[in-house]
Amino acid sequence: MKSDWTLEHIGIAVKNLDDASLLYQSLLGVPAIQREHVSDQKVTVSFFKTQNVNIELLEATDPTSPIAKFIQKNEKGGIHHLCFTVPDIREALVDLKAKGFQLIDEEPRLGAHDCWVAFIHPKSTSGVLIEISQKIVP
Ligand code: CO
Repeated sequence: MKSDWTLEHIGIAVKNLDDASLLYQSLLGVPAIQREHVSDQKVTVSFFKTQNVNIELLEATDPTSPIAKFIQKNEKGGIHHLCFTVPDIREALVDLKAKGFQLIDEEPRLGAHDCWVAFIHPKSTSGVLIEISQKIVP
């Protein structure tokens, strides 16, 4: 039996997006496909495609950003979250809440890449911040 969730990207917090983007371009052998400001989370993200899971680099644009707080604790940056796409984000949130997971977002909010997103607190997921997302269908 397989979960109907798909691992979509791994989010990596970085201090400097220009430097990190060059580094990952060199590492992966391809340039970022997209660079985007996500005002809701006060971050700029750079997105790289690989054969399976994508890589999202995140730089804080404001000291109150969750990424700025992460960088304060992990000065070199590091893995920040895993993002899974789910078939129905609202249904998933209701289900996760009923199972006792600690939700950071009870309601989906606007994320990068034209998606609704919501975060699950790492306290209830063995220390890993989990993002769930669903593509916004126009
Ligand atoms: Co993400």
